[in-house]
Amino acid sequence: MSRHLKGKHILHGNQFSREELGRIMTLATEFEKKSERNEIPPLMRGKILATLFFEPSTRTRLSFEASMHRLAGAVISVASAETSSAAKGETLADTARTVSQYADVIVIRHPMIGSAQEAAEAASVPVINAGDGAGQHPTQAILDVYTIQREIGSLENITVSLVGDLKFGRTVHALVELLSLYRIKLIFVSPDSLRMPHEITESLRQKEAHVTETDDLKEALLLSDVLYMTRIQKERFSHLSDYEKVKGMYVISDPLLRETKKEPVIMHPLPRVDEITTDVDNHPGAAYFRQVRNGIFVRMALLAMVTGVV
Ligand code: NCD
Repeated sequence: MSRHLKGKHILHGNQFSREELGRIMTLATEFEKKSERNEIPPLMRGKILATLFFEPSTRTRLSFEASMHRLAGAVISVASAETSSAAKGETLADTARTVSQYADVIVIRHPMIGSAQEAAEAASVPVINAGDGAGQHPTQAILDVYTIQREIGSLENITVSLVGDLKFGRTVHALVELLSLYRIKLIFVSPDSLRMPHEITESLRQKEAHVTETDDLKEALLLSDVLYMTRIQKERFSHLSDYEKVKGMYVISDPLLRETKKEPVIMHPLPRVDEITTDVDNHPGAAYFRQVRNGIFVRMALLAMVTGVV
């Protein structure tokens, strides 16, 4: 039933249809149920995942690796550019060709936009983009949609606000592509200097997505069913002084939630810096650690689908 993704690369949020997302989420739910009964099938036995991470990561790399292990597969990994032949000047294409001989599927994170695409063109096994610079992060976006579905019970007729660094944030770039497949109102909340790239906003409008932009978090909060907070991507700024101007600009706190009397679902791809104070963690809507957990099941589904074992 899931053969549709077999052998495919996962590179960009815009590559998915609603139907495809539905299939991924159904399989993720199946894995979640089986995991609760300790009955995850050893579907990936005999298969190898290679994780190539040329940028820092905790969740994305470990959750892909944990997902592979849980399905009884094996993992090999490069955890930094310094310890691989990239440090000797090897091209990404050559690395991808080489690793294709060792592994059945490759997950890559790299600082350059388009890097996963480049690796995919050279690889002979499926390549999954785990973040290409300020570009895309499609698997995070799928687990985000899965989380919204789980938290709200629906993906229709809701309002989702995306808050913070919409310019450099690859998770939101991928997420809005997926959300535009549903009847969802989108509110983009950012300072002027970190607005969603024009091309993305335009393509969403062409798809008749309902998009508004503001710099006022409180105003957006009052209208939102879901608040998706993001970290200001300090490492992407050319001048630290520009970062200093916007850092700490949007903070969700317990006093703010009390003042507005709103209990939206609060999400964050993590890591958080100061966007969500820890006094929010016990609010019923604080979904960011459930979101982390959902990532395991979604990534299990994706690994199983692209390698064709389901
Ligand atoms: C994000 C990333 O690396 O893009 N984290 C993640 O993968 N969950 C978000 C971030 O670094 O701010």
